[in-house]
Amino acid sequence: MIIAVDGPTASGKGTVARAIAARYGLPHLDTGLLYRAVGWQVAADGGDPDSEADALAAVRFADDLLGHPELRHEATGALASRVSIHPAVRKALFDRQRIFATQSGGAVLDGRDIGTVIAPDAEVKLFVTASVEARAQRRFREMQGNGVAVTLAEIESDLRRRDERDRNRSEAPLMTARDARVLDSTALDKDEAVAAAIAIVEEFRPR
Ligand code: DC
Repeated sequence: MIIAVDGPTASGKGTVARAIAARYGLPHLDTGLLYRAVGWQVAADGGDPDSEADALAAVRFADDLLGHPELRHEATGALASRVSIHPAVRKALFDRQRIFATQSGGAVLDGRDIGTVIAPDAEVKLFVTASVEARAQRRFREMQGNGVAVTLAEIESDLRRRDERDRNRSEAPLMTARDARVLDSTALDKDEAVAAAIAIVEEFRPR
């Protein structure tokens, strides 16, 4: 069973995907990390994230980079959003994601284009979303907890910028797959969002 979990930044899709993977004993791939690794690598190489050639060269990052704590930083997320608009970068990362998705026994993947491009054949497709204000609040609390000095207004404007870029790029833009179920987590806490996601999986999973 392939389970696709898509949605915008800070929607809670990662939390939902990890919980579903644990519940069904499936391997999980956070595909955003791949784009974050490319973004981090292009900066480390002194390249330009807006140059397709520079970003493509950074696709050859070392695998152990995926565990680097800086990949989780907001600055790396912004770089990831910039390198992810290049079609050559998306193409270069396709096989790795597709192979993960089609491994025997199934898998859970979260990202932006899992239900539309990477695994249009997924048995279950979830699109996790929340209002930009709710997402900004969550990210703000998380960053404050980590001792990062940032304002709510800065986070909200960064989220809006990233949403705009992710939704409007020409290649594999963030969009809801026709056959995806939308899970709006604006008014839900973490446990409620996970419970709602599992209820959707139960409804759709083949038996
Ligand atoms: O989910 P995230 O915040 O870690 O993703 C970082 C960026 O990577 C996001 O702004 C767009 C890009 N991305 C993508 O284009 N396609 C994916 N499947 C996952 C992430």
